[in-house]
Amino acid sequence: MNNNINYVNHWIIEETTFNPQWLGKYEAIMAQGNGYLGLRASTEESYTNETRNLFVAGTFNQFSKNEVTELPNIPDIINMELVIDGETLDLNRGTVLDYSRQIDYQTGELTRQFIWETTQKKQIRFEFRRNVSNIDLHFIKQEVRVTPLSGKTKIDVTSGINGRVTNSGSQHFIEWDKRKKEDILQMNLQTTESDVKATVSTKHAFYLNDKPVLDKRDLQIFRRQIFETVTQLVDKNDTFIIEKTSSVFTSRDFDYLEDQSVEEVATKATQEVNQTYAEFNQLIKEKWQATYQEAEVIIESKNVMDQLLLNFSRYHLMIMTHPYDNRVNIGAKGLSGEGYKGHTFWDTEIFILPYFTFCYPKIAKNLIEYRYQILPGARKKASDNGYLGAQIPWESAWISDGEVTPLYGDVDIITGTQTKILTGLIEDHVSSDVVYGITQYLKVTGEKESSIYRQLVLEIALFWTSRAEKNSLGIYEIKDVIGPDEYKEHVDNNTYTNTMAKFTVDLAIDILQVISEEEFKQIRGCLNNLNQTELLERLVDFSENLVIPTVNKKGILPQDDTYLDKKELDITSYKNHPLVNQIFKEYNLDQINERQVSKQADVLLLMTLFFEKFTPEEIIKNFDYYETRTVHDSSLSLSTHSILASLLGNTELAYDFFEKLITIDLGKNMHSSDQGIHSASMGGVWQSVVFGFGGLKYDMNHENLYIQPILPKEWESLTYQFYYQGQKIEVFVGKDTFEVKNVSASKENVSFYYQGVQYNSGEKIKIIR
Ligand code: BGC
Repeated sequence: MNNNINYVNHWIIEETTFNPQWLGKYEAIMAQGNGYLGLRASTEESYTNETRNLFVAGTFNQFSKNEVTELPNIPDIINMELVIDGETLDLNRGTVLDYSRQIDYQTGELTRQFIWETTQKKQIRFEFRRNVSNIDLHFIKQEVRVTPLSGKTKIDVTSGINGRVTNSGSQHFIEWDKRKKEDILQMNLQTTESDVKATVSTKHAFYLNDKPVLDKRDLQIFRRQIFETVTQLVDKNDTFIIEKTSSVFTSRDFDYLEDQSVEEVATKATQEVNQTYAEFNQLIKEKWQATYQEAEVIIESKNVMDQLLLNFSRYHLMIMTHPYDNRVNIGAKGLSGEGYKGHTFWDTEIFILPYFTFCYPKIAKNLIEYRYQILPGARKKASDNGYLGAQIPWESAWISDGEVTPLYGDVDIITGTQTKILTGLIEDHVSSDVVYGITQYLKVTGEKESSIYRQLVLEIALFWTSRAEKNSLGIYEIKDVIGPDEYKEHVDNNTYTNTMAKFTVDLAIDILQVISEEEFKQIRGCLNNLNQTELLERLVDFSENLVIPTVNKKGILPQDDTYLDKKELDITSYKNHPLVNQIFKEYNLDQINERQVSKQADVLLLMTLFFEKFTPEEIIKNFDYYETRTVHDSSLSLSTHSILASLLGNTELAYDFFEKLITIDLGKNMHSSDQGIHSASMGGVWQSVVFGFGGLKYDMNHENLYIQPILPKEWESLTYQFYYQGQKIEVFVGKDTFEVKNVSASKENVSFYYQGVQYNSGEKIKIIR
């Protein structure tokens, strides 16, 4: 069947026909939010295939001992039943004309319009608009316009709060009470295990052709539901307007004062909101504009999709990230679906954090502070596993939760049972990924190392020394891990993992050279009570004797001890397949483990992060080797290949990978986003543009800024802005030249490297191809 997605312009996508099979995709890619809350784009009326999600960041709850904690669904406030002369609006019935649903990523507004012809042949025009505030993060407003086109029509609207929501069956809230207070419908709840209180409120206003209607409202209270119904007779071509203002407050919010109940705060705030939908929407629009202008990225391309993909990604990056709460991080599906249960992965530091570090450093700081706050859970994980120091959880949720990776996953095609998930046990690179991301933030922003940063690095470094095994030759090996390529389990000396571990330990050694005795004394308790000299000796021994695989005679850097000895597999059909994970239809993980096939970039990712350590020849050889063995079954994979191809000057290939990034969420696969959008891929899109084609790199070893741009033939120019050590920098890249400008008030000179030569801002530089 033809898909129904239309790329209207570089800000707007459209669903051109209604198809209940594809609700999931649009619910996710058209989701709205502000980092505090995330609202899936479910329709006002209900359908069988829908997933109605409203999440508030950080409200994690563990439904039962057999399940891991997850972000619970807050009661639904989007719902509206619209009855037209006795016939309930349902697009599966009657006839739908002129259907269009659009989201504008520039303003965050979601709109839907169509003419519905009832089974009795009455035509009604419906227009829906909806936005989520990015100013007062608790508020959502909807406007619905109903215009009879065939004659006088009776319209019944039933709307309110529906608490009959679950996360795929798990009911996370105990309902306390629900009531009507003046014009506000309200429901108070509490999570079953984490005791988070939530107050959900909604109020309606009704107009006929913009004039308030003196309505009579019927209140209806059922189990977990509170609604009100209004009936209105509307003449032909008159418009009945419903405005619904809803809010969510929880006891995890910062702005909830201790001496007030959540309910009091919620009621007062909801009473005070009296803007019209148009006023509400206008303010949101202006805020979005200012947000984008903070760090513009403008592509002049033959293909409108390029800028659309970038804008789509920037929009989602903002709505998945809390603007000021440092107790929450970013979920692998943002706040747009139940996939990965709202948990945070290494996706943040390696794929997403760089966007915030370079464009919105204040937000990046919160994401970093979250990692400091999960240290107790990381210590617990290390000690539960028999290690020292701190071992960052593979999956994290609320700051005190520790490791929350589930134990079982998808079906094994051979055994017919659920596969055991080992990532929480042995995918250890996340600890160093966190260190990498935070260190990059500090160097790029120029912010001083804090004592908690030093503690984090030292504790993670200590973990690595205990995680590694020392063999009879005095060599350290890190055995039995999963590297970023999750198609290889129980491997020894994964090059990515070992290199990142050494990077962390080397940083820790540097810290020990400068840390004061007093400061060390204060954190010694978390470092197994080792004294400074003992710890230093331990770290130096590890750093000098850890196995770091090097390129072999053929120039290939082995992924781990055994990858290069495994059997080859023709992966063409899986690589070309529009859906991921096709390999599992024929092989189980044990079999895949024995083949040279990778889920995602592993050695290549390492080469992207530490580009300065490898020669162009090494990168080319390894790119060719591993690319042919990578199925890109992870949404994290393609951007790495695009960035690396740009680094090699192969813009055609880089553009090819960039274009494939479209397929992940915005493409024609109508189910790829059912569980939510792919957060890391959004960061990967920005990185492919700015780090890849824009050539922006930070050399972690020499602490230098590199700007080495090269555009694909489809692009006329690229302009991007970023912050570097407090200065706002703008880079303009044309076909043959580029220019770097300091656009902040200070206009200080900023120096950077291009093709190994140091340049200053303000010079026009010729691009060498
Ligand atoms: C990837 C991981 C990633 C996770 C969450 C998995 O499919 O292999 O690298 O962290 O998804 O995005």
